[in-house]
Amino acid sequence: MKFNLIGVPVNYGCDRNGAQFGPEAFRQHNIADLIKKEGHKVQDSGDVKIPKVSPEEKYSGHENLKYLEPIAEYNHNLAEVVYNTLNDDTFPFVLGGDHSLGMGSIAGVSRHFEEIAVIWIDAHGDINTEDTSPSGNIHGMPLAASMNVGNPRLTNIYYKGQKVKPENVYIIGARDIDSGEFEIAEKTKLNLYTMETVREKGLANIIEQVIEKINNSSVDGVHLSFDIDALDKSIVPGTGTAVSEGFSLNEGKEIFTKFISRLDITSMDFVELNPVIDDEDGKTVKNCFELLRHIFKTFKLREERDTEYAI
Ligand code: ARG
Ligand code: MN
Ligand code: MN
Ligand code: MN
Repeated sequence: MKFNLIGVPVNYGCDRNGAQFGPEAFRQHNIADLIKKEGHKVQDSGDVKIPKVSPEEKYSGHENLKYLEPIAEYNHNLAEVVYNTLNDDTFPFVLGGDHSLGMGSIAGVSRHFEEIAVIWIDAHGDINTEDTSPSGNIHGMPLAASMNVGNPRLTNIYYKGQKVKPENVYIIGARDIDSGEFEIAEKTKLNLYTMETVREKGLANIIEQVIEKINNSSVDGVHLSFDIDALDKSIVPGTGTAVSEGFSLNEGKEIFTKFISRLDITSMDFVELNPVIDDEDGKTVKNCFELLRHIFKTFKLREERDTEYAI
């Protein structure tokens, strides 16, 4: 396969120093080489342009939407790169940066395809709006905005209105959900698999259910947005909003093995690495790379299997 790395060095959405250094950390540890070693082609389109604003301007767009204007702007730029990448028959692999970038990714992906599904693997729902958010941090809102719920400046990024239908949205592993988010989940009827549900029904069963639903729907593109805080706090100390009771590294691998081999994943985000708050031995970076290696290995296996059948 051919991957395009797209860096998004942003921390406006989490309002905490460090997440903007994520793309740099991935490149320093040679993510491109890793992808090549696993047998793929890789290009790096560099970093998306992020407007520079000072912390004093944080609330200038809205009283509970921090950095609204620069976030809307950079997401437009990101959407354009993602859209062009797909048109080029290349897989957009978006490196965060905080999760506010989900809006731009999804906007670009949804313009390319007729109808998309979004798999959102995260400790959080990220379906807040300016009315429900306890923090005003926009990284807690991108999935709502993508479903056309929230402030028009966010719901109209790249093009006007809804990017993904709630029935095609699958949140997996959430265990820190705000009360307003529960209401939005219920109202929109999106597919919410909380960690509680995952533990009750078993991870394998939940994955199976999601695969079946997606393969029985009429989507032609599947975007997978991975927030590393889906993993347990103890294995990803270097993320801004770490939560306990998360997935183990092996469970993370199982999720990717199954989704990549049985669904047609067409684009991905890998977000919320904060190298500044990682532990001394770089535990988070190390675990991210173990997972990344697994991801690209699985894409290769899938590709080999598909070409074998085609012959
Ligand atoms: N629910 C909280 C909020 O809206 C935390 C969101 C964390 N999101 C994330 N992408 N890490 O502020
Ligand atoms: Mn579309
Ligand atoms: Mn999260
Ligand atoms: Mn998130």
